[in-house]
Amino acid sequence: MRMYDLIEKKRDGGELSEEEIRWLISGYVAGDIPDYQMSAMLMAIYFRGMSDEETSIMTDAVAHSGDMVDLSPIAGVKVDKHSTGGVGDKTTLVIAPVVAACGVKVAKMSGRGLGHTGGTVDKLESIPGLRTDLDREEFFAVVNKTGIAVIGQSGNLTPADKKLYALRDVTATVDSIPLIAVSIMGKKLAAGNDAILLDVTTGSGAFMKKKEDAIALALKMTAIGEAAGKKTAALITDMDTPLGFAIGNAMEVVESIEVLKGGGPADLQEVCLALASNMLYLAQQGTLEECREKAREAIESGRALERLAAMVEAQGGDARYVYDTGLFEKAPYCREVTAQADGYIAHMDAESIGITSSMLGAGRETVDSVIDPAAGILLVKKTGDVVKKGDVIARLFASEEKLFAAAEQRYQKAVTIADTCPKERPLVLARVE
Ligand code: URA
Repeated sequence: MRMYDLIEKKRDGGELSEEEIRWLISGYVAGDIPDYQMSAMLMAIYFRGMSDEETSIMTDAVAHSGDMVDLSPIAGVKVDKHSTGGVGDKTTLVIAPVVAACGVKVAKMSGRGLGHTGGTVDKLESIPGLRTDLDREEFFAVVNKTGIAVIGQSGNLTPADKKLYALRDVTATVDSIPLIAVSIMGKKLAAGNDAILLDVTTGSGAFMKKKEDAIALALKMTAIGEAAGKKTAALITDMDTPLGFAIGNAMEVVESIEVLKGGGPADLQEVCLALASNMLYLAQQGTLEECREKAREAIESGRALERLAAMVEAQGGDARYVYDTGLFEKAPYCREVTAQADGYIAHMDAESIGITSSMLGAGRETVDSVIDPAAGILLVKKTGDVVKKGDVIARLFASEEKLFAAAEQRYQKAVTIADTCPKERPLVLARVE
């Protein structure tokens, strides 16, 4: 087989065979196919797309490019959740304990922050002592003991995705629906869960800016999951405005704990209930309404909060932080951002706000950057709120005062104030199964 021929075939709109796709992925991981030829192939896929058959085969090849996790040492149904990313998106920290409190195991491998989006692993690590680098045996032991564990992606999981993602990142081929589907579902299939709920975000803070693209991606991913024998569903959720009020690692953990205590922001509560009930539904715990009731009860009774505390302790963290969030370290400096005019907050560019938080120290500017757990943003006014000139619309937190000037400027640019109230957007736009 010649890579040149495969590139030409895809460039001209042809469909690659199973043998060709498997050869392509294994050859690339082995280093036999150079980056320049794979780049040309990715660009051909970007413009020509891939059929469902091609996408499923490539996903399987990516999943099998490294270790396949066998979760069978964990008893019971294991259900996974994956968000395509967002700003202030801390739902895993709420729903994993809720689902575990309802008797469904959550053995979750999560990511670190990527670009403007935060990552669950970085957030959890703001709890002193908590380890996300558990080995397989420790991981299984924590899930068997507490019903839940959240760790980073370890070992040799989907090396093909690591290489391909890095190449896509520098060749303008990230935002291709089939390539995103392959990347996400490859990792999900390798992670070994029985059921998968996908949270496909859409809006200014999401990879998929348009609802139609989010639905197309959700359809592709659910088809791949079902073809692989996993119960798979997707919710399309709004990420046009950051979720909740907190953006930044420790502050997001605190806000998640507030939701687990029965409080917290209404939008975060609602999205978490929708996601948790759908995870329970996929794990066959009843109708969607019954599952929603179970999720609500797990929060009201305090059992979900207890699960989080048990998990934190089992992963080496200080569980006192779960019950007393005043213990979290606070940033030494705060800068208030004020409204420049009277009117309504008509739009918030969530991606730009995510980047602002990163500039304050909450995210990575380079792969080697060290995260500041206390840095970030507390939103005071959100889309649809009325403001008067001079009102505080957000508070920025950082460990160095010099970080504020550029961050404040960026935040101001990200927020549009206008005379008319924007149309309210639903939090859950669609469900795909
Ligand atoms: N998240 C992933 O894991 N992969 C993509 O391609 C895009 C978002």
